[in-house]
Amino acid sequence: MSDPKRFLITSALPYANGPIHIGHLAGVYVPSDIFTRYLRIKGKDVISVCGSDEHGVPITLKARNEGITPQEVVDKFHNINKKAFEDFGITFDIYSRTSNKMHYETASQFFRTLYDRGVFIEKSSNQYFDPETNTFLADRYITGTCPHCGNDNAYGDQCEKCGTSLNATDLINPKSVISGSKPVLKMTKHWFLPLDKYQGWLKKWILEEHREWKTNVYGQCKSWLDQGLQPRAVSRDLNWGVPVPVEGADNKVLYVWFDAPIGYISATRELTDDWEKYWKDKDTRMVHFIGKDNIVFHCIMFPSMLKAEGSYILPDNVPANEFLNLENDKISTSRNWAVWLHEYLEEFPGEQDVLRYVLCANAPEAKDNDFTWKDFQARNNNELVAIFGNFVNRTLVLTNNYFNGHVPERGPLTQYDKETLKEITVLKEKVEKSLDSYRFREALKEAMNIARLGNKYLADTEPWKVIKDDRARVGTILNISLQLTASLTIILDPFLPFSVVKLREWLNFEPRQWDDAVVDPLLSAGHKINSPELLFRKIEDKEIDFQIEKLLLTKKMNREEESQLNPAKDNIHFDDFTKLDIRSATILDAEKVPKTKKLLKLTLDTGLDKRTVVSGIAEYFNPADIIGKLVSVVVNLEPRKIRGIESQGMILMAEENNGKLVFMSPAESVSNGSEIK
Ligand code: 2FM
Ligand code: ZN
Repeated sequence: MSDPKRFLITSALPYANGPIHIGHLAGVYVPSDIFTRYLRIKGKDVISVCGSDEHGVPITLKARNEGITPQEVVDKFHNINKKAFEDFGITFDIYSRTSNKMHYETASQFFRTLYDRGVFIEKSSNQYFDPETNTFLADRYITGTCPHCGNDNAYGDQCEKCGTSLNATDLINPKSVISGSKPVLKMTKHWFLPLDKYQGWLKKWILEEHREWKTNVYGQCKSWLDQGLQPRAVSRDLNWGVPVPVEGADNKVLYVWFDAPIGYISATRELTDDWEKYWKDKDTRMVHFIGKDNIVFHCIMFPSMLKAEGSYILPDNVPANEFLNLENDKISTSRNWAVWLHEYLEEFPGEQDVLRYVLCANAPEAKDNDFTWKDFQARNNNELVAIFGNFVNRTLVLTNNYFNGHVPERGPLTQYDKETLKEITVLKEKVEKSLDSYRFREALKEAMNIARLGNKYLADTEPWKVIKDDRARVGTILNISLQLTASLTIILDPFLPFSVVKLREWLNFEPRQWDDAVVDPLLSAGHKINSPELLFRKIEDKEIDFQIEKLLLTKKMNREEESQLNPAKDNIHFDDFTKLDIRSATILDAEKVPKTKKLLKLTLDTGLDKRTVVSGIAEYFNPADIIGKLVSVVVNLEPRKIRGIESQGMILMAEENNGKLVFMSPAESVSNGSEIK
């Protein structure tokens, strides 16, 4: 594809109800910043926009719990997050917010254009309403028992235990989160975006015309499109958000996922009067950086909105990443299982590049990945210190020692010298190719190969030995090493911007453009350099042990808190206990229930019969691994239909605090049907 005239880079607007952690950085903001810096240093016309996503039910719930207003919640976290990004060198051209005036105007106008064009379906339906507080209960304002897995704390839009998407009316024993009272059904009107009408167009646009999208992104889109799209409500009964700009829509606001992506447009408008050229000119290439939970909104919903509006361009690519885990456990704000950026900076001041490096080298590009403190230490000590730091330090120190800090003359070049210099071009092209296809891990590895090349060159040419007999030859060696070092300040600039600034100061070298990385020479003979300091320091075991202990303490506190949240139930009568018929049984067969993440369909030999039980254990067990397993099963539970399958009983599992499930199997082999009492 020919080069576009300009680039518009968007990064998912983080919700302003909590601070930023390493998962956010690795998934979205480090790659988007690397890409933007790369385009800038190439001299491209590029803007990078981001900001706080300040609407949605969770923000209003947080405000309610803390006894403050939603505006106060978002004011606090907008400022914290804006600073965290600045501190880590994430260089947005604008970090805006969706509670500002420009955004309200832009989002209203957008809705109104679609409304006037008759794009929406207007539909009244019964929704839960809290009679005590006179409010409709949107999404998470309602909890109840999940009809699929029995979880008592399922939300009105989703059960987090079995992962099923729900409608609030599916919940058993629904309860208002605001007053705890039983809600009633009441008619209310909403506007729906008829995604089904865009299905054919989306199929062609994504599945045929964007086969180059990352496999994880393409696969998720295909699965949504294969299942068939349904109209989606784009309004909510809520008093926090952008009001629906239509007569008779009192107390209704735009659905947060309708207004948030429009936030990219509002931010651009705020940044420049010339915003339309970034949004409406076919010569602009737009790229959305997001995490995998945002794929459907950026690949299906927002493009349908843009298409319906008609005057906007569509994204050229959506290089979404998977998730980063922390020490083998899902990152979770509510369980404080995260490395927060502000905390990192307190404990590793000035070491932003180390985190940027580790998060890029280990980015969850194709699958979920794990951040561990041991890996952090190893990558710092064995790669940043031993390869990059070591090479540039030796080069600068030797130049200072042997040539009084002046770039020495280059004498006649050996074949090896020439090959080394040529290799810079080869590696630069590899980095470019990887970056152009959003493969940031690979790009970083190739960029570091220039430092590896330099280290090997010094080790092979041994200037510290040659100096005794041939000072001129040492001059040539150091001249070439300095050429590699100067190239590194350009090639590593997008990845390690803080280190590159230091290195440029020591080299006395102005910022240069990307293609200059292969200009030879970058530093002419006689150029004066400064004395270097250490670029990276070794991270000691005790620092890592401290971090690990901190996490263990968090685990312990979570366990204690959860056991308080999960106290013993009230006593029951012995007769109630004897009503339960629990038997030992063997799993004869197991298979995943299609289109669910957590459900397995099991065939059991209960000694009494062979029967089917649907169980929410798929996240922890592979079907093939549990065939033949001896389990305990409640056999006299009323049968229930789960995803169209009749489930006849329930397998007993122990649940750890982190949600991990373990079979309650008889300790020794017993025959199927043995009573458990
Ligand atoms: O998942 C999230 O954190 C959302 N706040 C992302 C919004 S991206 C865009 F649409 F604004
Ligand atoms: Zn459930």
